[in-house]
Amino acid sequence: MKILSGIQPSGKLHIGNYFGMMKPMIENMDKAELYAFIVNLHALTSVQDKEALQRDTLGAAADFLALGLDPERCVFWVQSDVPEVTELMWYLSTMTPMGLLERCHSYKDKVSRGIASSHGLFSYPVLMAADILLFQADIVPVGKDQKQHLEVARDIAIKFNNTFGDTFVVPEPQISETLATVPGTDGQKMSKSYGNTIGIFLSRQELKKRVMAIVTDSSPVEEPKDPEACNLYNILKLFAPPERLVEIHDLYVQGGAAYGYLKLELVDILWDYFHEARQKREALAADPGYLREILAKGADKARQKASLTLDLVRERIGICY
Ligand code: ADP
Ligand code: TRP
Repeated sequence: MKILSGIQPSGKLHIGNYFGMMKPMIENMDKAELYAFIVNLHALTSVQDKEALQRDTLGAAADFLALGLDPERCVFWVQSDVPEVTELMWYLSTMTPMGLLERCHSYKDKVSRGIASSHGLFSYPVLMAADILLFQADIVPVGKDQKQHLEVARDIAIKFNNTFGDTFVVPEPQISETLATVPGTDGQKMSKSYGNTIGIFLSRQELKKRVMAIVTDSSPVEEPKDPEACNLYNILKLFAPPERLVEIHDLYVQGGAAYGYLKLELVDILWDYFHEARQKREALAADPGYLREILAKGADKARQKASLTLDLVRERIGICY
């Protein structure tokens, strides 16, 4: 079985990314053939800053490795180092109905938030389909916001297979029900674009600032509250040890949950939770040569796999003659 997922190098990793994609990927390392990559071509649809893209590409590599991805037990690369994907994207785009892309919420959402509408942004899901189909992935772990893009990839694979004969595996999304959408400090989906994130590798001072920004209601401490309706509780729930979570739950239900105090506790919990990864990340970030070496090796492995699919596709559609 093949499991594959990618992340855009477009900013600092937050706890939504961690639970939606990185953690499931890392946990899958021994369960399947794992493909993890950094989608810098996708990031170009929103990042047009050379230094930022270069920095964040290596940064995303450091994030993945610091959190436990072992490059010896998976294929780990940067998307643009495997140019086969853009060739496949063209083939797929010739058979992608416009209507399929016009229905994508993510495109409409990004444009409404001010990202320039471009052909690349519109065809983003076709490049994503190429990423997935090129490696014949069975399972794709992602957050809920990517579900529709997975449906596009499936539709394209099915259409190709029906037209040219069985070629692609039709991929399945893996979306954890409980962690499908990690809430941000304002209770909406945590996302870089909403400015409501809690970063994983922040300094302690920055971390405290972000946690203190979690929006809570203004009811008195002693008033009983519904924990599930509280952003702070919903974030604490992801990290607090189970026995402590029961106590916190009781404080909400019986009255006595002091938000300020619980926020300080959350800062400590988050700081400890990512302590080891933070130290690893610092060491990795200080050694870009090592990161480049790992990524180059990964790209070699990925290209070998990619060329097998691409040869088959070229043959099926009549591009080799
Ligand atoms: P952002 O919304 O911050 O720009 P990305 O689009 O780069 O995040 O998402 C990278 C991965 O993290 C995707 O698989 C996405 O589904 C997942 N993800 C992002 N935000 C969340 C969230 N709040 N909850 C769960 N998963 C998320
Ligand atoms: N669109 C995904 C995101 O924003 C990133 C991505 C690109 C991806 N190609 C992929 C995820 C292939 C899974 C598989 O998060």
